[in-house]
Amino acid sequence: MDAAGHEPVLMDEVLRTLALQPGESVVDCTAGRGGHALRMAQAVGPNGHLILVDLDPENLQYASDRVAPSGTSTCRWQHSFAEVPRALRNFEPKPNALLADLGVASTHLDRPERGFSFREEGPLDMRLAAGESLTPTTRAAPGEPATAGDLVAVLPERELADLIKTWGEDPFAKRIARAIVEAREREPIRTTTALAEIVRRAYGARARESRMHPATRTFMALRIAVNDELGALERLLDALPRASDWLAPEARVAMISFHSLEDRLIKRAFAGMVRSGQAIDLTRGGLVACDAEAQSNPRARSARLRVVQLTEPTS
Ligand SMILES: C[S@@+](CC[C@H](N)C(=O)[O-])C[C@H]1O[C@@H](n2cnc3c(N)ncnc32)[C@H](O)[C@@H]1O
Repeated sequence: MDAAGHEPVLMDEVLRTLALQPGESVVDCTAGRGGHALRMAQAVGPNGHLILVDLDPENLQYASDRVAPSGTSTCRWQHSFAEVPRALRNFEPKPNALLADLGVASTHLDRPERGFSFREEGPLDMRLAAGESLTPTTRAAPGEPATAGDLVAVLPERELADLIKTWGEDPFAKRIARAIVEAREREPIRTTTALAEIVRRAYGARARESRMHPATRTFMALRIAVNDELGALERLLDALPRASDWLAPEARVAMISFHSLEDRLIKRAFAGMVRSGQAIDLTRGGLVACDAEAQSNPRARSARLRVVQLTEPTS
């Protein structure tokens, strides 16, 4: 495991396809623990520029400290990457490259108090922005963004089932939603482990046949919903056809997804740009981890990298 607590995926593929040059500017939309950011900072060098973005204030700080020795001029924004196109409109220099490495960092899963892990007891929070700015909790205070605990406590059974089916792709979504509603009628579901146990029981004997923990998909679905992960991605992708307003000419745009729904959105958006002559596809079909990486880093097994290069608009 990387000392930063998160092993970046597809590093060589990202660096090769982005082909950063000294003095270029790059925006890392998901700075995380700074693994990709550090290598990108080294590639653009002391005359280059790096913009670090992350919803999570702790990760953003960590990534920023990690890249500092590179001497690259760096600025950081604690925002959703959905806001990046708007923020970059009035920003110079415009980035020559963009990376979005979606999802959560391993450190999120390793910290029970953040609520992402079903293996250790913690509050059902799962908000990426929690940390310094929001104290992790199962139920959000009035006016704060909803937690996973809020969704589990208030969503009607049908909506819970839809959420677990759509975003978790769990074949037992209906059964799990029923079990959650029955359990919460008896007493509030307060912890990650309590929810994991409810899901495990809903699986019944099938839990023994399942390769992964039965709660894996339910937790992923709740995390995606709490952080509006697909909504944020769609907004970033929607801004790409107008990228000449916020990215440099011929900028390279790289996205790493870990979920089939995310990958479908990226694939469709990139294909549309290629069809209309706005971009060139640099990774036909996407790139996946080689056997050695998949062996050493289990997260890499579901990762897919797609990269396009914007074309110069003809006027
Ligand atoms: C897979 S990690 C990135 C790891 C990073 N590439 C590295 O090398 O350490 C994803 C990061 O994206 C952040 N994130 C997820 N959704 C986001 C969003 N909508 N806007 C900004 N950051 C987001 C998470 O907080 C997490 O730190």
